[in-house]
Amino acid sequence: MQMSKRKFIKFSLLAPMLAMSACKFSFMERNLHKKSLITTKNLGVSMPFELPTLPYTKNALAPHISENTINYHYGKHHQAYVTNLNNLIVGTDLEKKSLEDIIKISANDKTKAGIFNNSAQVWNHTFYWHSMKPNGGGKPNGTVLKKIESDFGSYENFVNEFKNAGATQFGSGWAWLILENNKLKVVKTGNAETPLTTSGKPLMTMDVWEHAYYLDFQNARPSYIDTFLNHLVNWDFVEENLKKFS
Ligand SMILES: [Fe+2]
Repeated sequence: MQMSKRKFIKFSLLAPMLAMSACKFSFMERNLHKKSLITTKNLGVSMPFELPTLPYTKNALAPHISENTINYHYGKHHQAYVTNLNNLIVGTDLEKKSLEDIIKISANDKTKAGIFNNSAQVWNHTFYWHSMKPNGGGKPNGTVLKKIESDFGSYENFVNEFKNAGATQFGSGWAWLILENNKLKVVKTGNAETPLTTSGKPLMTMDVWEHAYYLDFQNARPSYIDTFLNHLVNWDFVEENLKKFS
C-alpha cells in the first residue's frame, strides 16, 4: 500500500558478531511493527518483518468472527506468511526493502513467486484486520456514503457488487473496495494478488480464503460476507484511506 505517511522503524541486531547496520522498513501507519525482534534460531540474525499487532483483542469481533478463528487466521496463517517471507529474503537484496517494494519487485518475477505470495499475504492480511472493527458494518454515513452513492448509484448497489465479488471469487482470494481514477470500484483478486500492483488504491478488503470463515460459517461463504458487511466493516478506516487518496 502506498501510504501518504510512513513510519520507519529501526531494528538493530542483538548479536554483535553478526552486526549489520540498523534496518529500516515501512509498513502500515499504526505502529504495527513496534514489537520485539523476531529472530531465526538457525541463522541467529534478526528478521526484518514482524507479525503486526491486531488493532483489537482476539475476541473483539465475536460472535461474528470467533477468537478461535482469529487464533488460527492471525496466529497461524498470518504468522506463517511473515515467517516464510523472512526466511525467503534473509541475506538477499530484498532484506532491507519495504514490504510494499518487495511486493512490487516480486510481482512480475516468476522466480520470486514465493516471495510475492508471502509478502502480499502479509500486507493483505494486515489490511484486512484494519478493514474490520467491533460493532462495525452497516450503512456508512458522511463522506463515505456520499462517495458510494455517487459512484455506485446507491449503497444497495455497492452491497450487491461487493457480495457478488466475494461470492464469485473462485477458490481463495479477496474482495476489495478500491479507488481508481478517483472513482470507487469493487474488485476481486485470487490467492495473494493485491491491488498494490495496480493503479487502484485499496480502501478496504474482505478475505474469502476458506481459513477466514470455515470455523465459524463452515462452507457458507455468503453468510460470512453478509456478516462482514452488516457487522464488521470499519468505515472509519475506509474514510481515512479515502482522504489519503482523494
Ligand atoms: Fe487469510
